[in-house]
Amino acid sequence: MFRVIILGSNGNLGGQLFQVFCKEKEYEVIGWDKEDVDIGDKELTLNKIKEVDPDIIINAAAYNAVDKCEESEQEFEKAKLINGKAVGFLADAALESNTILIHFSSDYVFSGDKKEGYVENDKTGPVNKYGKTKRMGEEELISRSGTGLKWYLVRTSKLFGPVSDSQQAKKNFFDKVLELSEERKEFKMVYNEEISCFTYTPDLADKVKELIKDKKSYGIYHITGSGAVSWYQAARELFKIKDNNEINLNPVSSINFNRQAKRPKYSILINTKLEPLRNWLEALREYYK
Ligand SMILES: NC(=O)c1ccc[n+]([C@@H]2O[C@H](COP(=O)([O-])OP(=O)(O)OC[C@H]3O[C@@H](n4cnc5c(N)ncnc54)[C@H](OP(=O)(O)O)[C@@H]3O)[C@@H](O)[C@H]2O)c1
Repeated sequence: MFRVIILGSNGNLGGQLFQVFCKEKEYEVIGWDKEDVDIGDKELTLNKIKEVDPDIIINAAAYNAVDKCEESEQEFEKAKLINGKAVGFLADAALESNTILIHFSSDYVFSGDKKEGYVENDKTGPVNKYGKTKRMGEEELISRSGTGLKWYLVRTSKLFGPVSDSQQAKKNFFDKVLELSEERKEFKMVYNEEISCFTYTPDLADKVKELIKDKKSYGIYHITGSGAVSWYQAARELFKIKDNNEINLNPVSSINFNRQAKRPKYSILINTKLEPLRNWLEALREYYK
C-alpha cells in the first residue's frame, strides 16, 4: 500500500487526482486543501507531512489568479510564496522522508515567441508575474536535482473538466462561456494569439498515475491534450457540440481585452517523453455527453 497526499484536493485538478488515485486499491489517499494545511506555512507543512509519512506527495495547490497577481505587490508576494517558495518547502519535506514529489507548472513559464511550441528543456522566459512565480517553483525543484530528490515537474495548459464541489471552485472556460451564452448571443474571442493546448483534468490525472506506476525517470514532463487552438477556435467547437447556431462569435485581437497580465502568444507544450493524451475535442465531447 502506498500512501499519497494530494495538496489542493478541492481544486479542479486536485479533485480529479483524488478520484483517480482513490479508485486504485494500492493507494491510501489523503486529500488536503488550504483549510487542512496552508502550504505557505513551512513549519506546519513539514510537520504535517512528517506525521503522515507518505510515499508520494502530489502538489496541485496553487495561486492561479493570473491578472490579480499584477494588481499589487501584496498579491505578487502571495503568489511568490504559494507558487514559488512553498514548492521548496515541499521538496525539503520530500527529501526528509524520501518521498516522491509531483508538482504542476504552466505553459506561462514560456515567452510565447516560438510558434512551433516548446519542448521540456527549452529556455523559459515568462511574460507575466504569475508565470514568474510558476518558474520560481520550478527552480526550487530543478536546483535540488542531484540531491536525491525524487521529483516530477508536470507542465500543462488550459485545464477544463468537472468542477469540484468546493465553494471556491473556479469554473472552466467552456462552462463560463456556456453560462454567459444564456444571457447574450454575441462574443468577442481572441483569434490567432494565445494558442495552446486544452487539457481535460481526468485525462491528466490518469497520466500522472501512469508516471508513477511505470516508474518513469524523474524530471520535467509536458502533459496536455493533443491539438493546439485559440480561444476563438475552442468556443466555435463548443457551440458546434451544443448545436447552438444562435451565437455570433467575433474573432478579435487580444488588445480588445482589458486584462492586467500579458499572455504568451504561442505556448504549445510539446511532449517528447510520453504517449500523448487524446485530442482535446474528443475529451470536450465526452465532458458534455
Ligand atoms: N487552470 C489552468 O488552466 C492551469 C493551466 C496551467 C497550469 N495549471 C497548474 O495546474 C495546477 C492545478 O490548477 P487548478 O486549475 O486545478 O487550480 P485550482 O482549481 O485553483 O486549485 C488549487 C487549489 O489549491 C488551493 N490553495 C490555494 N492556496 C493554497 C495554500 N496556500 N495551501 C493549500 N492549498 C491552497 C486552492 O484553494 P482556494 O481556491 O481556496 O484558493 C484550490 O483548492 C496548478 O499548479 C496550476 O498552476 C493550471
